[in-house]
Amino acid sequence: MASLKGKVIIITGASSGIGQGIAVHLAPYKPKLVLAARGTAGLEATSKQCQDAGLAADSILTVQCDVSKDDNLENLVDTTIKTFGSIYGLVNNAGYGVIANIEQTDMKDYDGIMNVNLRAPFYLSKLCMPHLKTSKGCVINVSSIVSKMGIGVIAPYCLSKAALDHLTHLLAAETGPSGVRVNSVNPGYIRTPAHQKVGLAKEQIAQMETEHLIGTPLGRLGEVEDVSKLVKFLL
Ligand SMILES: NC(=O)c1ccc[n+]([C@@H]2O[C@H](COP(=O)([O-])OP(=O)(O)OC[C@H]3O[C@@H](n4cnc5c(N)ncnc54)[C@H](O)[C@@H]3O)[C@@H](O)[C@H]2O)c1
Repeated sequence: MASLKGKVIIITGASSGIGQGIAVHLAPYKPKLVLAARGTAGLEATSKQCQDAGLAADSILTVQCDVSKDDNLENLVDTTIKTFGSIYGLVNNAGYGVIANIEQTDMKDYDGIMNVNLRAPFYLSKLCMPHLKTSKGCVINVSSIVSKMGIGVIAPYCLSKAALDHLTHLLAAETGPSGVRVNSVNPGYIRTPAHQKVGLAKEQIAQMETEHLIGTPLGRLGEVEDVSKLVKFLL
């Protein structure tokens, strides 16, 4: 329990789903959490849940941050250092997709997905790296099982996650000698608000869940807590 005590961990996309779940799961281990997302209401909700889980309010920093904007990422790192003085963990979790094959893809969506799912983890890792080298810390990229599968209806998303895996390999090779660990988690289907956000109807989500269950030997869908426990282990 003591190993994460006082360690500064940044989580992007902490206002919802997996990012929120990771924050709440880590809270009882008493780290210093930096919760980053675009919406203040979601950030406040996560902060409240972390406090309910036993983390003191002054161990939580919420930073409004659109990860597709360089100056927002720079502000996130600056504010973290000004507030807590160090960075031990970076969880690059913010991400999204749209339902579109290659032919249907609007190139604005392509750029948006690549900016959030790939460019942001690249730039944020670069910005955090001097601090992670000092703390002998780590980066965790939240990728997806689709990085290894070409699911045509979410083509740019699959591509972004495949590239994110490569970033994990590159970064791990570059920073391992300095004592910084870099890993990714690649969940399958996890129940979060993400599937409604891409515009899927309730019936479509139910059908998708049934299809995923068929291919899941344990006979149950993945839950946010499954991912959170793995992230805690990697941290
Ligand atoms: N839910 C799944 O089935 C599943 C499976 C595999 C991987 N993932 C990955 O897990 C991560 C979290 O997804 P989720 O299912 O919790 O979805 P979610 O929609 O509940 O949460 C995504 C988070 O990312 C944030 N985000 C998106 N764009 C952002 C931006 N420009 N700036 C800052 N924050 C931004 C959202 O605000 C939200 O907090 C994503 O990277 C996703 O690709 C999800």
